[in-house]
Amino acid sequence: MDYSKMKIPRHVGIVVDGNGRWAESDGKIRSYGHKVGAENLEKLSRYILKETGVEVLSVYVFSTENFKRSTEEVDYLMNLFTKKFKSDAKIYKKENIKVVFSGRREPLKEEVLKTIDEITEMTKNNTGGILNFCLNYGGHSEIVDATLKIHQDLIKGIIKEEEVNESLYEHYLYQDLPPIDFLIRTSGESRISNFMLWQASYAEFYFPTTYFPDFNEKEFDKAIIEYNKRDRRFGGIDYDKKNS
Ligand code: FPP
Repeated sequence: MDYSKMKIPRHVGIVVDGNGRWAESDGKIRSYGHKVGAENLEKLSRYILKETGVEVLSVYVFSTENFKRSTEEVDYLMNLFTKKFKSDAKIYKKENIKVVFSGRREPLKEEVLKTIDEITEMTKNNTGGILNFCLNYGGHSEIVDATLKIHQDLIKGIIKEEEVNESLYEHYLYQDLPPIDFLIRTSGESRISNFMLWQASYAEFYFPTTYFPDFNEKEFDKAIIEYNKRDRRFGGIDYDKKNS
């Protein structure tokens, strides 16, 4: 698709959903869906950040609530993260994509944290797009954690009470990123599920029924066509349109 003629969201968020159902619908085990989902994510993120003009991509790959899943599934996912971050670090480095993470470190295991730190370090000077993995992430926890950091800086005298406003608050979130313009959740579920609550306040939402392993470049092109039909007013009124 020719992206030069399109309105491009600066920051896209994807709630990765439907890996399990994708596998089960084909008589396979859920973990197979996660494996194919992870491969798709690596390919899709390169497409989005290298070919379309999107500057930041945030992907929700593990919520704080996902720890409630079976030990078997959680262990499988943690091993998958470890393996993929290790193998994909070279790819992202070469592609000039900066990889960052949002979420709590506790109670992630040492081996997961190690690969997270390695891929972050290896890609920290890259300038060709930001890939933000939301892992052990919760929108409520992010706001609580930011509040605690602000509280500490107030006590230390690093900031003053009168300086605390929306724009200062943003600097205390896990990553200092622009607001989400376009939020996609695959698999037909129409929920935000605690994903980037602060950043998504004015996002356009899109809920394709496609399961994530099948959400490919063509599906993303369709999503952008839909985004281009939206009229974003940010709480105001488009008077030109109203009078025409
Ligand atoms: C949510 O629903 C999805 C997840 C908890 C995991 C998403 C993880 C990946 C795509 C792997 C990412 C890999 C890397 C390297 C970051 P679900 O997919 O379990 O599906 P369901 O709602 O059909 O059960």
